[in-house]
Amino acid sequence: MSKDMKDPVYVTDQLIADDIDAYLLKHQHKTMLRFITCGSVDDGKSTLIGRLLYDSKMIFEDQLASLENDSKNVGTQGQDIDFALLVDGLAAEREQGITIDVAYRFFATDKRKFIVADTPGHEQYTRNMVTGASTADLAVILIDARQGVLTQTRRHSYLVNLLGIKNVVLAVNKMDLVDYSAERFYEIVSDYSHFAKQIGMDSFLPIPISGLKGDNIVSHSENMPWYQGPSLLAHLEEAPISDTAMQDHPFRMAVQWVNRPNLDFRGFAGQIGAGTVRPGDAIRVLPSGKTTRVKSIVTFDGNLDQAVAGQSITLTFEDEIDCSRGDVIVQSDQPCEVADQFESTLVWMAEEAMLPGRPYILKIGTQSVTATVTEPKYEVNVNTMEHMASKTLGLNAIGVVNISTDRAIPFEAYAENSDLGGFILIDRMTNATVAAGMIHFALRRSQNIHWQAVDVDRDAHASLKNQKPAVVWFTGLSGSGKSTIANIVEKKLHALGKHTFLLDGDNVRHGLNRDLGFTDADRVENIRRVGEVARLMTDAGLIVLTAFISPFRSERRMVRDLMAEGEFIEIYVDTPLEVAEQRDVKGLYKKARSGQLKNFTGIDSPYEAPETAELIVNTVELSAEDAAEKVVQYLLNSSRN
Ligand code: ADX
Repeated sequence: MSKDMKDPVYVTDQLIADDIDAYLLKHQHKTMLRFITCGSVDDGKSTLIGRLLYDSKMIFEDQLASLENDSKNVGTQGQDIDFALLVDGLAAEREQGITIDVAYRFFATDKRKFIVADTPGHEQYTRNMVTGASTADLAVILIDARQGVLTQTRRHSYLVNLLGIKNVVLAVNKMDLVDYSAERFYEIVSDYSHFAKQIGMDSFLPIPISGLKGDNIVSHSENMPWYQGPSLLAHLEEAPISDTAMQDHPFRMAVQWVNRPNLDFRGFAGQIGAGTVRPGDAIRVLPSGKTTRVKSIVTFDGNLDQAVAGQSITLTFEDEIDCSRGDVIVQSDQPCEVADQFESTLVWMAEEAMLPGRPYILKIGTQSVTATVTEPKYEVNVNTMEHMASKTLGLNAIGVVNISTDRAIPFEAYAENSDLGGFILIDRMTNATVAAGMIHFALRRSQNIHWQAVDVDRDAHASLKNQKPAVVWFTGLSGSGKSTIANIVEKKLHALGKHTFLLDGDNVRHGLNRDLGFTDADRVENIRRVGEVARLMTDAGLIVLTAFISPFRSERRMVRDLMAEGEFIEIYVDTPLEVAEQRDVKGLYKKARSGQLKNFTGIDSPYEAPETAELIVNTVELSAEDAAEKVVQYLLNSSRN
């Protein structure tokens, strides 16, 4: 194959080989479009991606190498064989990559660079699509012309729309298999329009294609003279890019880190999420609300007169105001909102269902806070768009919930700014990402309820009682002896003149928590309420004893976090299941074993033993009296009282 033959792959390779600098320069200044392809297994996704990679004249890395070898060997027939090989390669890679959720493939044309997120279509589709689509400027929704709009198409489209991708291409594929029929194409487009309207999708561009034959991929297909629109690649080259779209938005930058190499320099580094910034601009740091002006915009290539959305920069300020990682720097006269309660859509991505009331880590922008889902409002049936009542969300479920964070955070509605309106939830114990969320708006109550400062505060209450408030938290299996021991401890403390109060599981469940049962979700809520009540009681200056199974580490940790350092004393009443079952004071184990009682702790509901308890009392070795004495000694010795 000679150099002047217009084999695209060869030319590209030659440029890399001859002059790598020229090659890099050529591509450096092009814009980059990120897009996602969505389709089910048989829609021809691999073929389409292969076609784009192949026909766009730029194929990278291993694909390039294997293709090059083959094209040398097979001469003029090379194209077809190479193409088939490439497609097989892509498909195989994706199938092997069960652990790879999303494969990102890179290619470029003379006009633009592209990254395509290729997501496998198996049942983890929601998670993969959310991952792939979260940074996409455009989505290609693939339809098999023979099949038309399927359930999968609806799901993909719903997610694409939910994630705020405005530029949607409906690629009606395999047109060669329906004789390039205009009638069939318009029938599908009309079906899809109907559905698009239903989900609030403003517009989409339908293109009839054949990935296999190459019709309307790079150039206009002669097989479909009735189609006058752009080819797929022509459209990809012209479609607007999100960063560009965000340049007209007011300035926003989440601070990634504070750069302080020496005492004379203090800069705030981050990537501009939206808008434009220039030296002299009046800015505001959120959530504190402090204001100043930009002194300089620093980059590795020197100072700038202006920077726009998408650029990574360091800002210095005129004044020394507080600003740290997680804060958001905004245009002073157009700040974003700050709140601690939101309504948002949640896409649940973990096997383990969402538990309302459980604390998760919420990451938004560059900041992490603790958050709980306070109220699931409804789940969306992605196939029918119906709203279904639901108390939780399982794997791949999408719902609307209220969320509350432990601190106020700067945010914007996801629809306006995905950077400051999109978040993920992380499990505190496993560190796994369990959900992706999109903020709709702040709840009005979050802005209208303010903490009321009171004069007779917790110190005043406590000092009158001459004691230090604390929560003594007993945890253990049913029948382990929590209530018995806690009861003796309270008597002893009372005799010592301490002001105490005992909250006991069975009692609280008769009143305040009468509405709760023993599902995981109800137990989480049980402990959340008890934690809040215990805290209020410590504000009143009391030493609070609690006796609840409290089977989950997460919630015990949540209550610990509600209290000041050292005020939460966790006591693990350690009784092996066999012993508790043998005692069976209330006859509940027997019922549970015979199947009359469901979700019984230790039988068919888990108990997570403490890892960091302040004290463990073993009730096999110790009598209740001795165990209680041990607890009292611990409390007195910890020199708190
Ligand atoms: S917790 O798990 O939510 O902390 P809690 O301590 O309030 O439980 O209540 C436990 C008490 O409820 C047990 O001591 C037992 O008497 C009673 N009970 C009834 N059903 C169950 C059940 N399925 N699992 C555990 N305890 C149960």
